[in-house]
Amino acid sequence: MSEAYRIPFLDLVKPHKELREELVNVFSSVLDIAGFIGGPVVEAFEREFAAYCGVSHCIGVGSGTDALRFALMAAGVGGGDIAVTVPNTFIATTEAISQAGARPVFVDIDEGTYNMDPQKLREYFESGCRVDSETGHLIDRKLGRRVAAVVPVHLYGQPADMDPILELAERYNLIVIEDACQAHGAEYFSKKDGCWKKAGSMGKAAAFSFYPGKNLGACGEAGAVTTNDADLAHTIQMLRDHGQAQKYYHDVEGYNGRLDAIQAGILRVKLQHLEVWTEERRQSAIRYRELLASTEGVVLPSEPAYSNGVYHLYVIRVDDRVQLQQHLAGANIGTAIHYPVPLHLQKAYVGLGYQAGDFPVAERCAAEIVSLPMFPGLRKKDQIRVADGVQSFVGRAPVGALAASAGRG
Ligand SMILES: Cc1ncc(COP(=O)(O)O)c(C=O)c1O
Repeated sequence: MSEAYRIPFLDLVKPHKELREELVNVFSSVLDIAGFIGGPVVEAFEREFAAYCGVSHCIGVGSGTDALRFALMAAGVGGGDIAVTVPNTFIATTEAISQAGARPVFVDIDEGTYNMDPQKLREYFESGCRVDSETGHLIDRKLGRRVAAVVPVHLYGQPADMDPILELAERYNLIVIEDACQAHGAEYFSKKDGCWKKAGSMGKAAAFSFYPGKNLGACGEAGAVTTNDADLAHTIQMLRDHGQAQKYYHDVEGYNGRLDAIQAGILRVKLQHLEVWTEERRQSAIRYRELLASTEGVVLPSEPAYSNGVYHLYVIRVDDRVQLQQHLAGANIGTAIHYPVPLHLQKAYVGLGYQAGDFPVAERCAAEIVSLPMFPGLRKKDQIRVADGVQSFVGRAPVGALAASAGRG
């Protein structure tokens, strides 16, 4: 019997083959004008992505990490302030907080959505902090530092529950910077405002990553900040470009964090396909749900009524995920873990003084999660094979076998 072909965790080759001509044209046209950094292509992408997110400004930068760092700095978060986020995210979230000069403090996640639990945020503010009677600042009781910002992460492409987070932030006068690095086009239904809102349009500013594997990915490193605040946008434009608004006149010390024109041109091409790709991801998520429904021992992603997620990742939970990964690898199916160690238990953050047991939900989830193959163009027959793999692991009849025996082949 010949070995089954490989189902990758992520197929980045196919979309680039399909768009090859358009992408090569981008490269040629930028070569023709030799305008590699900034310029009209970058500005056009910024306009288009701002419109896509429903905001007035987009500032292209070098990466999602740059985007988070610049957004925090421009909003005045630093100087030893606290920025509250979650332990189950990519380390770039907290790197940006630290590199802006602030200190990350974690609150636990919601077990259903894997995103910031607004109730835990409230508990931290009400029990772990006090309001200074003179300044009105929120002060962490243990650390004696001011809480300045909240950084909710729209993890796996699902928006965090923003209404209560924004309401708490408003109550305590805190800045909200969305980490939308995995959530291009995700939507949140705000009960407060009675409408759907795009990820990246709800906080003071938001950060996007265009790392190649993201839903909207460049062919290299790229990122962007979105905001409705013109002053903030101006400050970020300066921060990304050595603190200058006019060449060689530096108002502040900045960074080399610009978006290059070739990546911007590539992103313009891909942005035109994003809605179709997102729909394909959503359809694949629906199909996984049908195929894996009521499979004992497998927790599927849950999508609350307020969320219209974009399934950057399709993450399930099982007790013995290492064995499941091995089992699927044996069936030539790629998987990944996002992320195996919550940030408060990473070596890099020993200095923050957290210990195992501090965030039980995040810790439990980190031990059980597995990301299944998810990308636009994932075929039904391949999803059936993945579901077969999962179900044969947990000891159920494979769905392919069931489908065949029911004559549905
Ligand atoms: C949640 C999250 N935040 C931040 C980042 C950082 O983005 P980048 O890799 O473009 O710097 C990423 C990307 O990997 C991410 O997934």
